[in-house]
Amino acid sequence: MLSNLNTNKHTKILCSYNDFMEEKLLVYGGRKLHGSVKVDGAKNAFLPIMAGCVLCDGEIELENFVHLLDIENMREILKTLNIKTHSNDRQLYIDTREIQNAKITHERTQKVRASIFLLGPLLARFKRAVIAYPGGCNIGSRPIDLHLGAFKTLGAKVLERHGYIFCDGTNLKAGNVIFDFPSVGATESVMMCACLLEGETVLKNVAKEPEIVDLQNFLNAMGAHVSGAGEDEIRVVGVKKMHGGNFHVMPDRIVAGTYLLATAICGGDIVVDGAILKDNESLVSFLKQTACQIEVFDDKIRLKADQRLCAIPKIETRPFPFFPTDLQSQMMVLQAVSSGVCLLQENVFENRFAVASELKKMGADIVVKDRTALVRGVEKLYGADVFASDLRAGASLVLAGLKAEGYATVHNVHYIDRGYEKIEERYKLLGADIKRIKIE
Ligand code: UD1
Repeated sequence: MLSNLNTNKHTKILCSYNDFMEEKLLVYGGRKLHGSVKVDGAKNAFLPIMAGCVLCDGEIELENFVHLLDIENMREILKTLNIKTHSNDRQLYIDTREIQNAKITHERTQKVRASIFLLGPLLARFKRAVIAYPGGCNIGSRPIDLHLGAFKTLGAKVLERHGYIFCDGTNLKAGNVIFDFPSVGATESVMMCACLLEGETVLKNVAKEPEIVDLQNFLNAMGAHVSGAGEDEIRVVGVKKMHGGNFHVMPDRIVAGTYLLATAICGGDIVVDGAILKDNESLVSFLKQTACQIEVFDDKIRLKADQRLCAIPKIETRPFPFFPTDLQSQMMVLQAVSSGVCLLQENVFENRFAVASELKKMGADIVVKDRTALVRGVEKLYGADVFASDLRAGASLVLAGLKAEGYATVHNVHYIDRGYEKIEERYKLLGADIKRIKIE
């Protein structure tokens, strides 16, 4: 499968954080968005699935591939385990037949938080793992106690020293894990680890995000026995070995939601191909309250907005199926230009409101106190020099720029490239005036 592949030209483009440090997006606002756009594979499904490949012995083909900085950084980490990867435009191939256990260093993990997903699969496969603490977007303290606590419950010895986590899984056994909070990452980590443990592991108070269901489907396609993802309890019956195979990764519900919000903000008429209602129900039900028109098809959503929308009085982020923290910043922009007042409450990550100060530079009226933001809709936003502080903040600044009068310059584009493939090209196709330029 790997032998007849093209070399990956995209890896060259997206290979390092430094490649993006000197770029910015120049957005000239005021245009409506029109047309059809296709959503690629979900970053938050790809990353755990790539870690899950460590459990498999064989060649894996992942379809619906998306060229993102986080995914390229994860590929770099897989390389240190002697796992080979190749990609073409829409497929990623992973060959784990010569996998070797290795210490995963700080230089690798600081670039991608999802590196923590490797701990469970490495423990299950090699009975020991050494990994540096994960990095990632600065959206809150982001502890990993729930991951480590669950491994301990299953019998692992865990030692945290000098920025590294040392895990001995010699006595790992299937068992029962009850999470204190339904963490997406912890649910996925333990689910993967349990795949190769003898006996049945039962996980309770689990996260129910669609990406967890996708991970379950992937694991089962590679020979695991996992059931219950998306429901209250996940059951994993351990198998001796997992194999390679082919899997189509789900479309990115957050990218889909960002397109819908962009059109609600700018006005226009777009069809988002790959927007699935059941994955974005909370967003769609809020959008229906704002006076935009929404038509839902099997795997597409159309949104039309031809007037200033009404604010939604209260929005809270909570684990799925409620409104996702990953769409909160983009929703803040919609509220900032709607008529009325919205109280936004962020219950998942404490630093997600950092974007408010950048939006205020553009004329937004937002007062932040602890985990709530009071957003009073204004008639107009104005272009300004603004700085992304994380991935979703970056996307929301682009949306604000698309609406604003005059030029907005969005800095720290490397954050946006972690989760949106060539954002400027996609929005240009919908009629936006946006370009990427190098800082002198
Ligand atoms: C995943 C997503 C991220 C999304 C988030 C919430 C990926 C790669 N990332 O992140 O985009 O914003 O879900 O939907 O899928 N927590 C602990 N201890 C832990 C783990 C988490 O206290 O061990 C807390 C966190 O601080 C946070 C909350 O639980 O307040 C949610 O975190 P979690 O669901 O784990 O998010 P991630 O898996 O990091």
